[in-house]
Amino acid sequence: MDKYEYFRGLPEVGIVPRAPHAGPLMRHVYEQEHGRGGFSGKVAHTYHLYPPTNWLPGETRVLDRFAPTWESPLGPIGGTHLLLNVVPAEPARDVYRGMARIVANATAAMNVTAPATPMDYFFEHHSATMVYFVHEGRGTLETTFGPIEYTSGDFLIVPKGITHRFELGAGRQYYWMYESFAGDPEKAESPSTGRFITHSTSDYRYPRSLDTRNEAGRFEIVSKVGDVYTRRVHPTHPFDVVGWRGDYLPYRFAVEDVRPLVADRSHVPPSGHTVFTLPGCYLCVFTVRSVEKEGMWLPFFHRNLDYLETLGYHVGDFFSGAGAVGPGMVTLHPVGLPHGPKPRAIEKWLDGKVGAIHNEVAVMADFANPTRVSEFALGLSRPDYMDMWSGYTAEPRFTWRADRLDEVRRTAEGLADARDTLTPPRAD
Ligand SMILES: [Fe+2]
Repeated sequence: MDKYEYFRGLPEVGIVPRAPHAGPLMRHVYEQEHGRGGFSGKVAHTYHLYPPTNWLPGETRVLDRFAPTWESPLGPIGGTHLLLNVVPAEPARDVYRGMARIVANATAAMNVTAPATPMDYFFEHHSATMVYFVHEGRGTLETTFGPIEYTSGDFLIVPKGITHRFELGAGRQYYWMYESFAGDPEKAESPSTGRFITHSTSDYRYPRSLDTRNEAGRFEIVSKVGDVYTRRVHPTHPFDVVGWRGDYLPYRFAVEDVRPLVADRSHVPPSGHTVFTLPGCYLCVFTVRSVEKEGMWLPFFHRNLDYLETLGYHVGDFFSGAGAVGPGMVTLHPVGLPHGPKPRAIEKWLDGKVGAIHNEVAVMADFANPTRVSEFALGLSRPDYMDMWSGYTAEPRFTWRADRLDEVRRTAEGLADARDTLTPPRAD
């Protein structure tokens, strides 16, 4: 024994050999490597009681129509903004059988699931790392590396290929799920604000409590490769792991740990609220924060020229939703199409009615063009969403006036020397 304790350079839990593939313990447990990048990228090793390839001969089946709405046909979204209603509850739905595609591009996708029944199988996604956001509900994500407890407001990252199962808590469950087909989510970091804004990797929670199962029985694992779902059956519990080591791991990240960037004299753009980047997609969190003291405190009109924007409303007042958007709803704003404050929101800004707090939590995931929308999503779409900007063609303060140009020129002249209050004193 050493006199002192030390950290090792890789996280590890339980019974592990001195190093991967090395030492006498290798003859007593079964090592399995979970390797990305053709075994040259991130990697984790799990040590099992039984060989991980002990599937029962003749029991492997391709499952027909296992998750039909996950494979909902995709089409172009065109130049229309969409507001999607909450998915109605359906008792027979479990996390994956009820998974439904909303949008997808070549490297990422957004889905929704409202599970109401337990999973009687384990699942492995062999085509994507999954980023869950728990809008409603609680439970335990059971994984090869140990259990992770979760509740509303948590992100759960489930790396590609990891065996897992959701144990649902009581009450209604509603999750958004983002798939990354071409790489794992990376923590977003700005070169000028560094590692700890808007969150730190120390906010990530990796499993540390192994719950080793030495159980015999009939354990079904469903894997997904593209749109093919295959079931295999093992005679021992898949969580027969006595130890693991590595940096390819599932984890939890709570939205509460997002400490947002705010600017007193300007409006921080969505990119300042990015928490994860994935190939072809970035994920932002708009959370409770103080209102800008000067300058614009609501989003400017904008067109996102390279990305389709999805916005999932979690909790709060949603000032940008003009009263029409409720928790659980999702908006889709297509690439290039202008959008921004609805008339009720901009009136508050124009009239100087500023609050102290943006009391909202919403998750935005933007998808690189071309991104397509599913038939399932179109079925949730409210027909009146484009009308929510109709005040701009009806209300006198927004519509054509003969003296409008003169008015703006006069006002601009009057404001030529205007300065913000929060500025250094002038020398004169
Ligand atoms: Fe936008």
